[in-house]
Amino acid sequence: MEIRIACRWAIWALMVAAAHAALDVDLASADSIKSVAKLVASNLMSYYHGDEPGNIPGILPGPPPAGPYYWWEGGALWGAMMDYWRATGDATYNAQTQAALIFQANSPQDNFMPPNWTASLGNDDQGFWGMSAMTAAESKFANPKPSDPQWLALAQAVFNTQAARWDEEQCNGGLRWQIPLANNGYNYKNSITNAIFFNLAARLARYTGNDTYARWATRTWDWTEGVGYIDADYNVYDGAHVEANCTDINKAQFSYTAAIFLQGLGFMYDYTKHDQDNNKPWGRRISGVTNRTLEIFFPDGIATEVSCELEDKVQCTTDMLSFKGYVHRWLAQTTQMAPFIRGTIMPVLRTSAAAMAKSCTSDGVCGFRWNARAGYDGNTGAGQQMNALGALMSMLVDVRADDQSADGRPVTDSTGGTSKGNPGGGGNPALDPTAVYAPVTSRDEAGAGVLTVLVLVSWLVALAWMSSRAGEGPEWVDERGIKIELGT
Ligand SMILES: *[C@@H]1O[C@H](CO)[C@@H](O)[C@H](O)[C@H]1NC(C)=O
Ligand SMILES: *[C@@H]1O[C@H](CO)[C@@H](O)[C@H](O)[C@H]1NC(C)=O
Ligand SMILES: *[C@@H]1O[C@H](CO)[C@@H](O)[C@H](O)[C@H]1NC(C)=O
Ligand SMILES: *[C@@H]1O[C@H](CO)[C@@H](O)[C@H](O)[C@H]1NC(C)=O
Repeated sequence: MEIRIACRWAIWALMVAAAHAALDVDLASADSIKSVAKLVASNLMSYYHGDEPGNIPGILPGPPPAGPYYWWEGGALWGAMMDYWRATGDATYNAQTQAALIFQANSPQDNFMPPNWTASLGNDDQGFWGMSAMTAAESKFANPKPSDPQWLALAQAVFNTQAARWDEEQCNGGLRWQIPLANNGYNYKNSITNAIFFNLAARLARYTGNDTYARWATRTWDWTEGVGYIDADYNVYDGAHVEANCTDINKAQFSYTAAIFLQGLGFMYDYTKHDQDNNKPWGRRISGVTNRTLEIFFPDGIATEVSCELEDKVQCTTDMLSFKGYVHRWLAQTTQMAPFIRGTIMPVLRTSAAAMAKSCTSDGVCGFRWNARAGYDGNTGAGQQMNALGALMSMLVDVRADDQSADGRPVTDSTGGTSKGNPGGGGNPALDPTAVYAPVTSRDEAGAGVLTVLVLVSWLVALAWMSSRAGEGPEWVDERGIKIELGT
């Protein structure tokens, strides 16, 4: 009897040990990385059921309470899958990716604002889909059929709708977090929203060569820095409220915000490369944000979501569980745009990717914590799996299966890009940030009256909402689970 129990125990222990052996990858070998990435990608896609009967194409199970994933994370997933294809040449998921992006583009406006998801539609959520459309254009991902919206046009539509929401009335500029007045967080201007707008503007500038986008990128960076969300040491803080003139800064830091700024900075650096005076400040910012990002989010050279991945417990929301992958991919891409930073960034991404491999089972199922001595932590999900894939992709950033762009850099209109644009798309014209606005005419004054009423109503809504939460303490937790202190 006892021997049988001991035997069973031994067999079980062996099975566990086998299943928990780390992912076996040689980070010096592109072939090894690719074969492991195939496994990790397939496990990632096992979370996607959008193309099964009765389900909605493009989205991961959700949004809560229907499933754990908010709408934006679907947009993030397709960006990761395009990077996977670009780096490995494995086109297994391309048809699903194209169908997903087109379905959620939401014809006829084609600006990634489907009415279904209004309740969880922030500028950042819309922007994540826009960044994936931009990735498609830059990767020469198969163009949709002519009657469908095109990648570049989709990215421009997102940019245009957001530029039209730039709000000078409060805090001297910037974008609000939420789009609908009634959403929690409409009165919050945050870094992630402005980082994504900056990122899109920088990439559109480089892709199209149209300087209007570059001026918007500059304006957005200047505003974010000016209001103190990015400080002199290049910390990137979460955001603040319009009622406090954006001075009640929530100092939480999240890795993806810095990474999205950094990727955009890389594009601005490349865009300005023939103009020394203009180029220099972008280079300095890349150096500064890189230093700070590696210091904060890569203790011991291993990606860590420090605001919620604590030493003794992980208290990250589903959103936050996906940030490490973006950081890996976008820091790697920054090295393509600004080669001077390569020697700083790549060694750290390498130690981090090696730690990631130890956090997975040999079957390519990956946990969340990469710095655990125990290896695989059993904390799994689409975000965790996207993180692992992102780390592997960051090791392949210069490899491109498609031989038309040998250096693996994102293409532009003039270096092989084929995506068709629509500079005026999206339903709202973009404003020229440097334009001198026409004097107010009586017609505009009527418009201003309507605006005043709208602003008043929004104030009343915000006040009512704040007082309804007054009993809940000095801070509330937003839809992302990010703690935001209420302005007093
Ligand atoms: C919106 O929701 C309806 C009902 O669930 C669904 O049929 C449709 O596909 C959804 N559209 C988008 C763009 O998600
Ligand atoms: C609000 O803050 C900006 C700087 O971000 C400043 O220029 C402006 O004067 C402030 N407005 C008020 C009313 O305090
Ligand atoms: C980043 O760190 C490097 C190495 O310590 C240093 O030379 C550089 O000046 C730093 N960049 C900034 C903008 O502080
Ligand atoms: C440049 O971009 C702006 C902003 O979208 C647009 O209004 C303008 O028409 C574009 N110019 C050209 C030449 O495409």
